[in-house]
Amino acid sequence: MTLSELTEAPTAASIFTDAHTAYMFTPEAVSDEELARIYELAKFTPTALNSQPLRITFVRTEAAKARLLPLLAETNRAKSASAPVVAILAADTDFHEHLPVISPQMEGARERFAGNAESRAVMAKNNAWLQAGGFILAVRASGLDAGPMGGINAAAIDAEFFADTPLRTFMVVNIGHIAADGAFPRNPRLGFEQAVTLA
Ligand SMILES: Cc1cc2nc3c(=O)[nH]c(=O)nc-3n(C[C@H](O)[C@H](O)[C@H](O)COP(=O)(O)O)c2cc1C
Repeated sequence: MTLSELTEAPTAASIFTDAHTAYMFTPEAVSDEELARIYELAKFTPTALNSQPLRITFVRTEAAKARLLPLLAETNRAKSASAPVVAILAADTDFHEHLPVISPQMEGARERFAGNAESRAVMAKNNAWLQAGGFILAVRASGLDAGPMGGINAAAIDAEFFADTPLRTFMVVNIGHIAADGAFPRNPRLGFEQAVTLA
C-alpha cells in the first residue's frame, strides 16, 4: 500500500462533521487489509519522543469476541456484538525498549526510562491516549465507522488477553459500517468562544 493510496479519499467532513460515533453496525465484513490500512494511517499520530506506546489487538473471530464481550460493561455488549471488529487499545509500559530505534537522537533515553517505572507508566498512558484519538480518525479516514468505548473492565481484559505482559488496556473501539439507525443524535459541541482563548 503506497502513501498516496492511503491518503487519497477522506475529507474533513467524512472524518469530522459528518462522522458519528457508531453504536450499531451492518453485517458487512471488515478485511484484514482494511485493518492494516487503519494502522498505516494511525501510526503517524505524533507522540512525545516518538514513543508510540499504543498497542492494538483487533478482535475479529467469534472465539476471540466470546472472550472479550463478558468483560465489557453490560450496556456496551450489544454494541460490540454487532461490530465485525473490536479493537482493544492498550498502552505498552515497556515502550522504552524501542527508543534506540524510534528515537535514536535521544541518547540514553531507554536507560533513563528503565530506571523510572512511574514516569514510564505516565508517558505510556498519555501518549497511547493521544494515539487513540488518531486511531479513531484513521478508522474514519479508511471509510469505516468507529465506536470508542471506555465502559470496560480493563483489568479483566488485561488478565484475559495480556497476562504477564506490560500492556495496560484503556479502551475498546468498535469498527465496521454504521447501521442506518446506528448513531445517537448529535449532542451540542462547545462553541469557539467557550473553548478557545486568543491570547
Ligand atoms: C474515550 C471514550 C469513551 C467512551 N465510552 C463510551 C461507552 O462506554 N459507551 C458508549 O455507549 N459510548 C461511549 N463513548 C461514545 C461517546 O459518548 C461519543 O463518542 C460522543 O458522545 C460523541 O458522539 P457523536 O460522535 O455521535 O457526536 C465513548 C467515547 C470516547 C471517545
